[in-house]
Amino acid sequence: MPDRTPLFAANWKMHKTVEETESFLDDFLSNPPDPVADVVICPPYLSLGPAIARCADTPVGVAAQNMHEEQEGAFTGEVSAPMLVELGVDGVILGHSERRQYFAETDEALARKVPAALAADLEPILCVGESEEARDAGETEEVLERQLQADLSGLEAGQIENVVIAYEPIWAIGTGRTATPEQAQEVCAFIRDVLRARGGAADRVRILYGGSVKPANAAELLALPDVDGALVGGASLDAEDFAAIIEAAD
Ligand code: PGA
Repeated sequence: MPDRTPLFAANWKMHKTVEETESFLDDFLSNPPDPVADVVICPPYLSLGPAIARCADTPVGVAAQNMHEEQEGAFTGEVSAPMLVELGVDGVILGHSERRQYFAETDEALARKVPAALAADLEPILCVGESEEARDAGETEEVLERQLQADLSGLEAGQIENVVIAYEPIWAIGTGRTATPEQAQEVCAFIRDVLRARGGAADRVRILYGGSVKPANAAELLALPDVDGALVGGASLDAEDFAAIIEAAD
């Protein structure tokens, strides 16, 4: 099996001002994370530039939390891939369940956003995940397969290995409830099977788990064979906790 470098992404959502971002990075970078893992901080748009400046000459990357699929146009309030690239942004979270739920993010838009990100040389972190109702109804695999097929439909053969998939069960996000290691492994392996069946180099794709990852549960999740890192929300707001999660991957 090819080696997949673990990836840890800090999804700050709508948290931290520029000043708070700089103070976090001063703490976090004073004790640099393990170089065998890739680490990206995903702050709000306004903090991207300052975060990039602070992370220059460090192994820590910076990613955005969303972007528009068009390069420019009459889309009030939106930001495009070339604008992110100009700043020095490395990647972008796409299709987070909060975007799908509160901001009407559609699979159709994602089918265009994923290739737009790749075309601009941004690493997309595509989030997929089922609701509690879907899980209770035994529809987890159906929901994930539908999201993956739709959201990746704009990719050419061979592009999948440049996409990161984050499995984020909606019922585990910000709730303190984490998927059990069995649930996380089962679904991440299923995601890899779906990618393999599409004809991509599925063994090279990094699949992250997200949903109430904390220092206390990180080691058991990160030890799973199909989990290649974590997308961390709440616990990534604290430099020590985020560093402890990364350390747990060792
Ligand atoms: P959480 O968020 O770690 O606070 O559950 C994860 C996410 O939404 O990416």
